[in-house]
Amino acid sequence: MTFSSKRENNLSHLAIIMDGNGRWSEYRGLPRQNGHKEGVKSLRNLLTYIEDFKIPYLTVFSFSTDNWKRPKSETSNLMNLLRKFIQTDLTELHKKNVKIRVIGNRERIPKDIINLINSSEDLTKNNNGLYLQIAFNYSGRDELVNAIKKISSSAKTGDIDPSAIDEQIVSSNLFTAGIPEPDLLIRTGSEKRVSNFLLWQLAYTEIFFDETLWPDFNRDNLTIAINDFNNRYRRFGNIKKDIKNDTT
Ligand code: IPE
Ligand code: IPE
Ligand code: MG
Repeated sequence: MTFSSKRENNLSHLAIIMDGNGRWSEYRGLPRQNGHKEGVKSLRNLLTYIEDFKIPYLTVFSFSTDNWKRPKSETSNLMNLLRKFIQTDLTELHKKNVKIRVIGNRERIPKDIINLINSSEDLTKNNNGLYLQIAFNYSGRDELVNAIKKISSSAKTGDIDPSAIDEQIVSSNLFTAGIPEPDLLIRTGSEKRVSNFLLWQLAYTEIFFDETLWPDFNRDNLTIAINDFNNRYRRFGNIKKDIKNDTT
C-alpha cells in the first residue's frame, strides 16, 4: 500500500496505544505473556518500517501506572520485557540514529531498569533521527500532578508569579516538554478510550481506533491510519478557511 496522494503527509508526531496483547494470546489459548512478547516484536517491526513514513516523533504507550493493578506475575513480566528490549535493541536503535526518551514516573521501576533507561537516553541524546518516546509507568493524570507540584514549588519560592501561569508553562512542565503535541493517536485492540494517555497533549489530536490487536499491527495498518488522517480537516476550533468571516 502507498500513501494517498490526496494531501501531503502532515504528520509530525504519532502516538500509539499498543493494546490487545492479552486478547491476542487468550484467543490462541496461550498465557498472556506470549501476547506481550509478540507485542514487543510488533514494536520492533514498527521501528523498522516507520522510517519510510518520515514521521519525526513517535510516542508509544507500553506500561501505564494503572497497569500495576494487574497480577504481580504480569507486571514482573512487563518489567522484564522493557529490560530485555533495551538490552537487545539499543545498539541497533542507536545505529539508526534514534533518540530515545522514556517518559513516566520512575517510582516503582526496578533500579537496574532505571539505570538502563538513563544510559539509553544518554547514549542516544545527540541522535537526530526518529525521536522515540516510550511511555513507561506513565499516566496523563500522574504527569499533570507532577507538573502541578513543580509549578507550585516554583510559585512558593517566588520563581513564578501564579497569575502568570499559562498553557505554555504547564506544557513546559510535562514529561513531553519541547515535543510537539501528537497529530494522530492510533489505539489498537478495539477499545475506544484514551486510558489515561497524554491527557493534556491530546486536546486536538486526531484519533484512529483500529480493531487490530497490537501483535498483528503492521505496515498496512499504519498506512490505512495515516491515509485516514491525511483526509481529515483539522480546525482547532476555527472554521474552514474557505468560509469568509462574517464582518457585519
Ligand atoms: C497492552 O495489551 C499492553 C499493556 C497494557 C501492558 P493488554 O495487556 O492490555 O491486552 P488486552 O487489552 O488485555 O488484550
Ligand atoms: C492502555 O491499555 C495502556 C497500554 C497500552 C500500555 P489498558 O489495557 O491498560 O487500558 P484499559 O484498561 O483497557 O482501559
Ligand atoms: Mg488492554
